[in-house]
Amino acid sequence: MTTSPFMTMNNIDKSFNGVSVLKKVTFHVAQGEIHALLGENGAGKSTLMNILGGVHPFDNGSIQINGEEVKITNPRAAQEYGISFIHQELNVVSDLRVYENMFLGSEIRTRYGFLKVDEMCQKTNEILAKLGVDIDPKEYVRNLETSYKQLIEISKALLHKSKLIIMDEPTTSLADHEVKRLFGLMNNLKQSGVSIIYISHKLKEIKEVCDRYTVLRDGELVGNGSMEEENLDTITKLMVGKSISQERLIQKHTFGSEVLEVNNLSSPGSFSNISFTLKKGEIAGFTGLAGDGRTELFESLFGYRKTYTGDIKINNQLTKIDHPRKAVKAGLGLVPKDRKENAIIKDLSVIHNMSLSSIGHFERMAFIQDKLEKERFQYYKEKLNIKVHNPRVTIDKLSGGNQQKVIIAKWLEVDTDIIIFDNPTQGIDIGAKQEIYHQIVSLAEQGKAVVILSSEAPEILKICHQIYVMFQGEITASFKGEEVTEDEIMSYATGSKREANEIG
Ligand SMILES: Nc1ncnc2c1ncn2[C@@H]1O[C@H](COP(=O)(O)OP(=O)(O)OP(=O)(O)O)[C@@H](O)[C@H]1O
Ligand SMILES: [Mg+2]
Repeated sequence: MTTSPFMTMNNIDKSFNGVSVLKKVTFHVAQGEIHALLGENGAGKSTLMNILGGVHPFDNGSIQINGEEVKITNPRAAQEYGISFIHQELNVVSDLRVYENMFLGSEIRTRYGFLKVDEMCQKTNEILAKLGVDIDPKEYVRNLETSYKQLIEISKALLHKSKLIIMDEPTTSLADHEVKRLFGLMNNLKQSGVSIIYISHKLKEIKEVCDRYTVLRDGELVGNGSMEEENLDTITKLMVGKSISQERLIQKHTFGSEVLEVNNLSSPGSFSNISFTLKKGEIAGFTGLAGDGRTELFESLFGYRKTYTGDIKINNQLTKIDHPRKAVKAGLGLVPKDRKENAIIKDLSVIHNMSLSSIGHFERMAFIQDKLEKERFQYYKEKLNIKVHNPRVTIDKLSGGNQQKVIIAKWLEVDTDIIIFDNPTQGIDIGAKQEIYHQIVSLAEQGKAVVILSSEAPEILKICHQIYVMFQGEITASFKGEEVTEDEIMSYATGSKREANEIG
């Protein structure tokens, strides 16, 4: 590996409508390194990369590749310089097939201009195989789950012989084994001299895969260095201006009456023999690896899936939930994962996106009164540090993580007795994560029963009274929150240990 600066951005300035979002940012990437670009939501990471990728022009500054000044005026120009971009916002077209998405704008044709479909399908297959993905290249993208769409976005970038690949939060929807494969691939690319810019809010991933880092804060460069020399605490401090405590946030308090009792819930192929209880004021965490069945379990509980056996009691009443509407009536709320894909209305303002009350897939479109709306918006804007200059702009003008914050704020307002959060801090920076945990704990303190689904054990450990570990559709262990470590959770989550008898 050489360390010659392959790419340099010098003193980049950028503003949108008079608001400055990048101030004299200088950023170097060496050949054959994986470079983490870090910072809070709204710090300017995607904007800097959009400039490098030819999506946005800059106001002042310069860009050099191999020591020569270049003008990257559009995405095609970036590609010609060997730069590929995996966007934070999925850029795949639902109404096209997988291979058509992969070759969009660079179709392979015969001399006579006919499309070489077989060749494109074969090349698509080769790349998907490298990522360990088994999908038909002729499948329409609209039929695929979010994680596959993200994998197609990644594959698209790998198709071109790139010298520099920008990965803007490539793993938000990926399962652990998919992340592992991606990292393997990144290391291979690095060995062959390709440079990678890696943006993520998952510090563990960054530590695992990155060589160097650069931190932005409010549009300014605040630090850079080699990953080995720094510990994550130092980097966190650079990002949010303070350390974040690893301590548990919940206080012991007495729970109220039992609100939910689940007995022997099974759904073939998804989960089996699930039993647990939940009381008012309790936060229960369900964790495990991808494919552990936790999402399917709670989608069933919420009435999205009808084919299950077993009993559900809500407030001691045997309840048959076969439609989300019934779940809501019975006092349940579900905050789904992949919210940005499913829950944002792009051409609606920030403030209306927040106050739009919706539960699950059927929207009630009940707007709360203007004054109250403004007050609640102001509250969350401060609490979650939502970076928005004018709440009346459409939500797509916000950074990715700030959009997530707006949606999660909306859900924190939903008034149900039992509330289930699937992956509550997806795409959210480490400082705001902490505040979301506080908000969830305070919901429990107000007497709500809360369920958290997350594959991040530290998050579960921080806020849950009771922890259930799942493996291949079964609960393999359950613990009091204060009685277990991350390592123990992992050994049950990977199936290397199980104590099914202890559960109850
Ligand atoms: N098209 C746009 N129009 C107006 N403002 C924009 C636009 N794109 C980005 N911004 C603003 O620029 C700032 C930086 O946003 P950017 O998307 O670069 O943040 P980020 O560091 O990628 O954050 P995240 O971690 O949330 O993805 C934000 O305040 C955002 O609102
Ligand atoms: Mg971003």
